[in-house]
Amino acid sequence: MSTTANSKGYSNPRSRLYIRTFGCQMNVRDSEVVCGLLKKAGYVLSDSCEEADIVIFNTCSVRQHAEEKVWSEIGRIAKLSRRPKRIVGLIGCMAQNYKEHIFERSPQVDFAVGPADIGKMPEIIEKVASFRFQVSSKGLYEAKVWETEGEARPEEIYHTGFYGDKEHAYVVISEGCSNFCSYCVVPYVRGGLRNRNVEDILREIKEAIDKGITRVTLLGQNVNAYQHGGVDFIKLLRLIDALAGLKEFSFVTSHPKDTSLGLFEAMQECVKLNKYLHLPVQSGSDRILKLMNRGYDRNKYLALADAYRKTVKGGLLTTDIIVGFPYESEADFHQTRDLLQEIQFDAAFIFKYSVRPNTQAATFMDDVPLKEKQRRHALILELQKKISKKTKQSRHENK
Ligand code: 5AD
Ligand code: SF4
Repeated sequence: MSTTANSKGYSNPRSRLYIRTFGCQMNVRDSEVVCGLLKKAGYVLSDSCEEADIVIFNTCSVRQHAEEKVWSEIGRIAKLSRRPKRIVGLIGCMAQNYKEHIFERSPQVDFAVGPADIGKMPEIIEKVASFRFQVSSKGLYEAKVWETEGEARPEEIYHTGFYGDKEHAYVVISEGCSNFCSYCVVPYVRGGLRNRNVEDILREIKEAIDKGITRVTLLGQNVNAYQHGGVDFIKLLRLIDALAGLKEFSFVTSHPKDTSLGLFEAMQECVKLNKYLHLPVQSGSDRILKLMNRGYDRNKYLALADAYRKTVKGGLLTTDIIVGFPYESEADFHQTRDLLQEIQFDAAFIFKYSVRPNTQAATFMDDVPLKEKQRRHALILELQKKISKKTKQSRHENK
């Protein structure tokens, strides 16, 4: 896209861009993609929000707490020294979640762009900039731009060559998720599962290696469900392991329902693959797992953890836990604690359940009081702290 210099507009190739990323590694990669596209269009990256002409928040909707942080940051920007031409935009999951209603809550936001539409960012900023210099009498939405109807991203956006790190690159292998775990907003804000073309993934990694990258992390909401033209996730791992110039790689996130012994054997055999598995269990209670629509039970998870430990020698194992899910009783909670004791994870990320719009669990009664969620959270945290200390120590002794 051309960005001819313009005495007033933001298409001035030297407009400074600041991007703040909230949430998961997928968002970190999306921010890189946006930076790469806008850099190509002539914008200059800035690490100062105060100095920037364009401020972009790449947002997360997975828990309410994540959204609250973004709203308060937007409020802070509004109070900054007035830079009348500063453009403020929201991209990512919150943009998709709230669409044009963002402008009602935060009138200082100029544009909102959903995850599937980030490829259009250069055009969108041009459009917002051109609106700035028109006198409008038609009300609030006249000067705003929102793009949230996209369904798929063009593969080309992954090839700008922009990475935040000199040696490490995140590589998206699949976008979206079709699992519909009952608590999770991801399928609604990032759409159904879309697998990237295997040739294109390999091309991106080779291009990254040519730029000096030696380590990559493969990203997807459920990498194990990857499937493209006869290549499944296990085959993809083997293809990547064989790439010349690559020293090390890993992947996140795995789903127990799509994880198998075959994966663990491939993990053991791929010499460049980190022996690390993040396998969210969410709960140790079958009743709650069913309500969560996770597609596996406690015994299946225990068997997987056991097979992983036996097959992937010295492999690290981490997990995610949600406490205070609707109808979680003290007995359900104890089952989660027992499972943690039994498996001895190297680390666990513990979250208090938070209701997310549109999800199936939003129709359940959020009946565990906040105080009780906090108690369960603290207890699990304390327990896992002890376990992590122990696993770390025994790894150290076995070195
Ligand atoms: N409430 C609390 N935690 C959640 N997670 C996802 N959705 C919610 C929610 N509504 C957690 C899960 C997931 C991690 C990324 O965030 O544990 O694995
Ligand atoms: Fe959300 Fe479940 Fe998909 Fe993970 S697998 S992104 S928790 S719906």
